Amino acid sequence: MAPTSSSSTLSVSAPPPPSPNPLLFHLRRPLIAAAAALAALLLLAAAYAPWRVDLPPKAALLACPRFYSFDLVREYHHDPDAFTQGLLYGGNDTLFESTGLYHRSSVRKVELPTGKVLAHHQMDGDMFGEGLTLLGDRLFQVTWLKNDGFIYDRHNFTKRESFTHKMRDGWGLATDGKILFGSDGSSKLYQLDPKSLEVMKMVTVKYQDNEVPNLNELEYIDGEVWANVWQTDCIARISPDDGLVVSWIFLHELRQNLWNSGNMNIDVLNGIAWDEENHRLFVTGKLWPKLYEIKLRPVDGPADGSVEKLCPKASFYR
Ligand SMILES: *[C@@H]1O[C@H](CO)[C@@H](O)[C@H](O)[C@H]1NC(C)=O
Ligand SMILES: *[C@@H]1O[C@H](CO)[C@@H](O)[C@H](O)[C@H]1NC(C)=O
Repeated sequence: MAPTSSSSTLSVSAPPPPSPNPLLFHLRRPLIAAAAALAALLLLAAAYAPWRVDLPPKAALLACPRFYSFDLVREYHHDPDAFTQGLLYGGNDTLFESTGLYHRSSVRKVELPTGKVLAHHQMDGDMFGEGLTLLGDRLFQVTWLKNDGFIYDRHNFTKRESFTHKMRDGWGLATDGKILFGSDGSSKLYQLDPKSLEVMKMVTVKYQDNEVPNLNELEYIDGEVWANVWQTDCIARISPDDGLVVSWIFLHELRQNLWNSGNMNIDVLNGIAWDEENHRLFVTGKLWPKLYEIKLRPVDGPADGSVEKLCPKASFYR
């Protein structure tokens, strides 16, 4: 429906008549002048009232925006040799990080302000480190192309146990403080029992009826599971109960800026860490020399669009 002239929808009561008492009138003059100005403004608004008719329904105003870009808050040093596969905030301005590649895989504790590695565990050469999460004092880590995982004491990486799981292999891990969420590079999001590592539930992650493949590093944030989508600059925000993607975060500018400043050997965006206490969001990538604190900013996006169109594969493998 086209907007119609609708000054009739807004009725404005006329200002009160000036008091006949000259003294009182004098005293009340500023008040009356203000009221008259307000009335004039309201009349003006009424004259331009069509916008009032076209206000979206309240539900639309309250609905969560579906697309986000970001504002950069701060950037930090990140080890350019860290092939980041798991990242989380460990409190007190520290991060825990798991890195991949054969003979280069590790678990680390990193000082956020400097990027300095405070503690480091080198994994066996045949292990390719993947997702990492912290539940209580225990760091859970999965490995690529294997069903083997490790549990480290956050205070002492030499204290560790191993486990096996039934996901295809290990890509991402996250926790809500009770259970573990896992990904294996498919479109599946798993819920794992942290004691038995059994799969308790599995959902297929979808956006507008299309499966979202290549789910990688995970982070649990405010009831959602956020997932890096491998080889793209996108993070999918997933409702973990039904697997639906509720919104997308576009971060191509981060990689583009690194490229523009000559960092041609970087790999994909990967690694999301959330400082719940201070509401700080950190992201980085594999072999990225920087780690970024960002704030999300809602942006417009296409009403329809396949995942491939929204999040095209970044051309790393030229
Ligand atoms: C926090 O980190 C600082 C600097 O690394 C350290 O001196 C301090 O003991 C840490 N505090 C806690 C509670 O871990
Ligand atoms: C770390 O754990 C190992 C194995 O339990 C133990 O031998 C070592 O003393 C611990 N190191 C520290 C610094 O607590």
